[in-house]
This record gives sequence, C-alpha cells and structure tokens, in this order.
Amino acid sequence: PTTRNYEFTISEMTGAPDGFSKSMLVVNGQFPGPAIEANQGDRLVIKVTNALSDNRTTIHWHGLYQNGTVWYDGTASVTDCGIPPGDSLTYDFELGQFSGTTWYHSHYATQYSDGVTGPLIVYPTASAPSGFPTWDGDLIVHLTDVYHTFSAALVQQYLSGTGPTAPIILETPDSGAINGVGQYDGSTNYFNFDLAPNKTYRLRLIHTGSAAQIRFSVDYHPLTIIEVDGTLVEPYDVVGLTLLVAQRYSVLITTNQTAGNGSYWIRSDLISPVTVDGTTSEVLGVITYTGENSTSVPTATSDPGVPGSNLADMDVSQLTPAVVDTPPDRTRFYQVDFAIGATSTGGTIAQINGTSWSPLQGTATLLQVAGNTSYAAEGSSVEGGNQLIITEDSIETVDILLTNTGAGDHPFHLHGHRPWIMGFGTGTYDGQDLTPSNPLRRDTFTVPSGGWLMLRYVSDNPGPWTLHCHIAWHMEAGLLMQVNSLPSVTAGLNIPSDIASQCAA
Ligand code: C2O
Repeated sequence: PTTRNYEFTISEMTGAPDGFSKSMLVVNGQFPGPAIEANQGDRLVIKVTNALSDNRTTIHWHGLYQNGTVWYDGTASVTDCGIPPGDSLTYDFELGQFSGTTWYHSHYATQYSDGVTGPLIVYPTASAPSGFPTWDGDLIVHLTDVYHTFSAALVQQYLSGTGPTAPIILETPDSGAINGVGQYDGSTNYFNFDLAPNKTYRLRLIHTGSAAQIRFSVDYHPLTIIEVDGTLVEPYDVVGLTLLVAQRYSVLITTNQTAGNGSYWIRSDLISPVTVDGTTSEVLGVITYTGENSTSVPTATSDPGVPGSNLADMDVSQLTPAVVDTPPDRTRFYQVDFAIGATSTGGTIAQINGTSWSPLQGTATLLQVAGNTSYAAEGSSVEGGNQLIITEDSIETVDILLTNTGAGDHPFHLHGHRPWIMGFGTGTYDGQDLTPSNPLRRDTFTVPSGGWLMLRYVSDNPGPWTLHCHIAWHMEAGLLMQVNSLPSVTAGLNIPSDIASQCAA
C-alpha cells in the first residue's frame, strides 16, 4: 500500500463551464476538481484548506466506508462542523473495502452544486472474475447539471417559496456539462476524447449534479455496463442509460464503428422530471477516432441510436452482480416514509417519518455519540429533536423499507456502506422479508416515484452515517436521517481533537 498526499484548496472563482459566466466554488482553482486515483488499501492524506471568505466547508468521500475513521466522512453536522474559513483539516484514512468509480464533494449545505466536486477512482486489489471483459483505456466522464444562480440563493428561494416561480421549477438546471464543458445559448465548446480506433475503452460515468436525471449515450456505439457504484456487474449491452444524482456506472465502448464520420456525439441529456431552461436539454461532448479522416464536429443532427441493433436502454432491474455476494439474514426491520411537501407559507419542507432534518449548530452527531448524550439503546428508533436516527449497539443485519409517498424519483445515499438492494417497486410494500438470490450492492439507489425500496446493511461500521436524498435541494429541505452503528464502540475511539475544535470555533 502507498500513502498518497494531496493538498486541496477550496476557493471562490468566476467560471463558465457552459459559456455563461457565474460564481463558482472550486477545488484548486479547477472544475471538475483534480482526480484522485489510488489502489485499494492505499492511505490517502488530503489536506483541505478553506480559502472561502465567509463559509465553512468539508469534503465527503462518497461511497468510502471510513471504517474506524468516521470523523473523516466530511459530513457537516453529522461527523464534523465544517472547516472554518482560513482553517484546514487533514483527512487521513485508508481505502478499505471500496473499489471502483466514485467522487468527492463538499458536504456543507449545497456547496457542491457550485462546483466543489471531483472524481475518485480506486483500483481493486482482487482480479475480476474469469471471463470478465477487458479494456485498453480507462477514461473519466464527470457529468453534471449546471445552475447559473449561486446555490445558496436557489436553496433560499426553494425553501421559502419566495422565488420567481413555483418551488419545483427552482430545481431546474440551466444546462449541463461533460468533464466541465457544456453549451448554453449556442456555445459550441465540446469536451473531446480523441481515441485510437479498434480499441475498447472503459468510460467511468459519474453523476456529480444536483437534481436532473441524465441519459447518457454515444451515437452509433453500444455501451456495455460493467460497474455500478463499485460493484462489478455481468456485462449488459444497452443503447443508453439513465443516471440519477450521485450514481456511477462504468461502460465499455469499442471504437470500431463505420457509420458516422469518425466523429461522434456523446450525449448527456438532462431529462424528466426536470426540464431545462431554454429550448434544449441536450448536453454534448465528442469522441473522435485518432487518425481517421474525422471532422472536428460530428455531422449527426439527431440521435441515431445504435442502428441495426435491437438493444434498448438500461433497465435497472436487469443489473446483476458478476460475483454473488449474499447478505446475512435480517435481524432488524424499520419502515421509513418520506415526501417533499409545502409549508403553510408556500415554502418547501421534506418530512421523513414526521421529522425534517436541519443541521446542528456548534456540534455534530458524532460528538454527541462520543459524549454519550441522548442516544437510544440498541435497536430503537428515536426521533430526537429534528433528527431521525436508527441506532444499533450490536452488529445487526438491518432492513430499511423506504417508502416514497410523493411524486418524483429520489436517489438515496447511505454513507459508510454499500447496502444490498433487496427489492423495489411501485405502490406500497408490506415489508415482508425479501430473499433475492443475487442482490445488487450500491451506495446510491433510486426510490421510485410513489414507490418503495428495501435496503439491507450490517451495523458493523461504528459511527453516525447519513441516509439521505442526494438531490441537493431535497437534502437542504430536510430529507436526511442517520443510522448510528455501535455507539459504545464509537465512544471509545480516538476522535481527533480537530473535530471538536472545529465545532467550538
Ligand atoms: Cu455524496 Cu451524503 O453524499
């Protein structure tokens, strides 16, 4: 194992990812932020300096387990209080169980929507199962929606209902970007991959956006899905696939097409349920084949799909882990209902089992757990103030049935784990134990509109971990709860003094 050192500075910047100049918050002056690439088992030591004028910040390492280092999960109000302006924090942790494609982002309010995001790739130590496809090149594709208004202003309008339009419209992005480049109002800048012909490339798709669903495709090229949030899956050929916020997929493409002109559109279209300002939801990039007589811009004017194939778009229920990973039997079961609703004054508020999360001031759940204050005994679910927290003080196999009583799909994310997805569907489910033979493990899963999803995790990772909707506006509206595993163990851990001093600052 190698120790990899990074220095990140979070600062304000004027940028124009889609051609429209706007205020951004960025890592090391760039958008997307620098890519972290490491091997499973490596140690990452990342000094993060807050150069913002008046806001705290954090970095969360999405999808990493942080087993034994919950204080470096970077979740403001849960595992820390945010790095004060002018200060820094050195995150220092080992890359344990996770390998695959993920990303890092600020987890302080909606800061990541302003640009504090970057790729994080962890190469596995184990080899892929025999017969698994191979590839010649490995490429990162950082996808996002783009908002021209600073996120703090958007969220304020969204929560108070004081914006120019109805709240749901305020979730609407102005455009999108592929590896930091998009097109707004006729801009013709495109991110371009120049690829050798007759090779196979792994594209690591990462949805780093705030609300929009993204449909990804490459003109004329079938895509073979091989990875979902760090889980290798049986190769699955599709024409296109839809990513929700914070989800990742790796797809293989082979540069052997004869249709087209050696230059092809990458499409990262923003789709329903949000619509896009202006007339188009199209977000484009380009793949050109090196040395082909390619023009710099593809000639296709509309999406040709994959002519001559009978492939369809991805169906999430068809994703099958390449290696069977059977969960233990459940020993605990909880039901959690949620919805986004309106306040009496026309603003927006989320409810999650009757609670609505808002950040703690001057402390973090972790410090409360370590101080043994107001946390419930084994297996009970408490509604402490404005927080819904499921606590287990022994190692249990926990099922949570999430029921979405409102409209719209919600991408939920559980920190510190890669839970098994035991089942999902529309309507309601009675919560009976489910026993799928080869359930998918992923850290960001879609709870369908008016539907349900059952997840399973083992409470063996000490600390408080958030379970929340990753739509930035929804989290700020309170669509967040916590699972608090092994508080007695957490209380005995050596929490770095930086965390408490941050909270006191
Ligand atoms: Cu991508 Cu709570 O995080």
